[in-house]
Amino acid sequence: MCGIIGYFGRENATPVLLDGLKRLEYRGYDSAGIAVHTSDGVAIRRTEGKLVHLENLLQGEPVSGTIGIGHTRWATHGRPSETNAHPHCAGDIVLVHNGIIENYDELKRFLQGEGQEFTSETDTEVICHLIDYYHQREGLTTTQAIRRATARLSGSYALVIMDTREPDRLYVAKNGSPLVVGANEEGAFVASDIPALLPYTREMIFLEDGDYAMLSADGVSMADAEGEKVTRAAQHIPWNPVMAERGGYKHFMLKEIYEQPLTMRDALAGRIDRDQGRVDLEDCAPLYEGDKPRFDRIVIIACGTSYHAGMVGKYLIESLARVPVTVDLASEFRYRNPLIDDRTLVIPISQSGETADTLAAQRQASTLGALTLAICNVVGSSIPRASDATLYTHAGPEIGVASTKAFTTQLVVLNLFALDLATRLGRIEPNVLHDRLDELVRLSRLVQEFLDNADVVKSTIEPIAEARSVLFIGRGANFPVALEGALKLKEISYIHAEGFAAGELKHGPIALIDHGTPVVALAPRGPTQAKVLSNIEEVRARGAFVIALGSADDEALRSKADIVIPLPDVGWEAMPMIASVPLQLMAYYVADYKGTDVDQPRNLAKSVTVE
Ligand code: M6R
Repeated sequence: MCGIIGYFGRENATPVLLDGLKRLEYRGYDSAGIAVHTSDGVAIRRTEGKLVHLENLLQGEPVSGTIGIGHTRWATHGRPSETNAHPHCAGDIVLVHNGIIENYDELKRFLQGEGQEFTSETDTEVICHLIDYYHQREGLTTTQAIRRATARLSGSYALVIMDTREPDRLYVAKNGSPLVVGANEEGAFVASDIPALLPYTREMIFLEDGDYAMLSADGVSMADAEGEKVTRAAQHIPWNPVMAERGGYKHFMLKEIYEQPLTMRDALAGRIDRDQGRVDLEDCAPLYEGDKPRFDRIVIIACGTSYHAGMVGKYLIESLARVPVTVDLASEFRYRNPLIDDRTLVIPISQSGETADTLAAQRQASTLGALTLAICNVVGSSIPRASDATLYTHAGPEIGVASTKAFTTQLVVLNLFALDLATRLGRIEPNVLHDRLDELVRLSRLVQEFLDNADVVKSTIEPIAEARSVLFIGRGANFPVALEGALKLKEISYIHAEGFAAGELKHGPIALIDHGTPVVALAPRGPTQAKVLSNIEEVRARGAFVIALGSADDEALRSKADIVIPLPDVGWEAMPMIASVPLQLMAYYVADYKGTDVDQPRNLAKSVTVE
């Protein structure tokens, strides 16, 4: 939530900041602003709404200088408006912030009592005033004032700070919200996330909580919470700037849907030992003594789409490896005194690796003695850094707010983990393992074939776009896929949609069905298909318009559905990775037809770094 950027270099800062903000805009788009050290002092430009408004403003009121900071906002405290837009300033202090200051009310009262005058409704403004206060009233240097002020903050912050009297440096502070720094011969950069820095460097340093940094003509220097100089190892980022661009597609989401054959292959690459006929997850070594797991049970924690992947993971791990799994929403896990011990493996799943609830739940689990295995997309992000082991999903940058390729690669990795665990425990027959691995390898081609013939999905646009409410139903591992299909549709098209375990319909939700209500039924061949077919009959009898996903040659299914979206026949373990693709496309086409903002849907942000 919120993207921040800072630049100290030789080039004009304004285009660098704008390009960085464009690459960070998925983190929030309620307002945007920049501040630049110019020959006449610091110039600030801010606008409500998307970055394009700021770009328009800058055309009429350009600013130029080589040092600057920028911000794109997802509103927490104070409505989206120009007054609440960052950068904020007090006295000589100008700053941008990502995070939430929980004790801002108390600090604001204190500062107002001291005569500081506030102009916005934000929590951020207290930080400027607090630094200014220590600077002006107690005569501290800017560095000292920043340290004194941040010591009083409760909550999370990533800050890039300018002092109008010091045009030779930018100050940086971090606690709880992500920050990455990098440098090249043109200058030094700091940002909330990797994509903003990709055009300049692929060697990036992830700041730790409690770190302070300075960007100056000497590059980036860092100090820890105690003020001791620190050096942190740079990580090589295996992404290139082109991967974070739309590449001719109308939207990032569409591009990311179409990338899935490739990303599924990348998620498998180097992880299957064909000669030995087994999975090879060397990154999981810390979880085992030889082949013996250091855990007896598994708890998966995640939010949103990643939570749905975790639900599929439970079906896979319990069925293949016979190890008990519970799946928790990270935001609930923390507040229910969870049963965790040193024989529990906790698996946080997160595309961004920065989701505040997931990170906090993971930290709590570690404190309780759990081993942790992150399943994550963003290399070097906070969740992998706090884990005992990490399986990266290798999906490349996911920019569309609606998660697509991250989900299917999470499912690939969960399949691999379940098969590896089952093999180590001797709970899977070699021929079954062989078949499962073969299917995983075939997956990429099957998804490509589906995408090459996906026009049938467009026939669902009108019935869905005209509906007040859409239901998604599935059983077994397709139940979470139904939840995911509903989440995709509602988040980008703003149509009410709910996913249900098909067997639950008659316990209440079936009352929602009226003449023409679209019901999207996941009905591939498999152990529960007969039951799903009965559920389709039940909704049809009540007037539902049935869109079914199943085999093209399944005559029984054809006779019951208004539209059939054909899926290849694969085992139930692989089906979620294929069946979720048409649901992503369905949501995409409906949203595009309605003209909503597909990549930046209202009220949302890609990376939820507040609890
Ligand atoms: O980065 P994470 O996977 O931790 O994000 C979790 C959710 O915020 C995310 O999946 C969200 O639900 C997506 N917008 C759904 O498309």
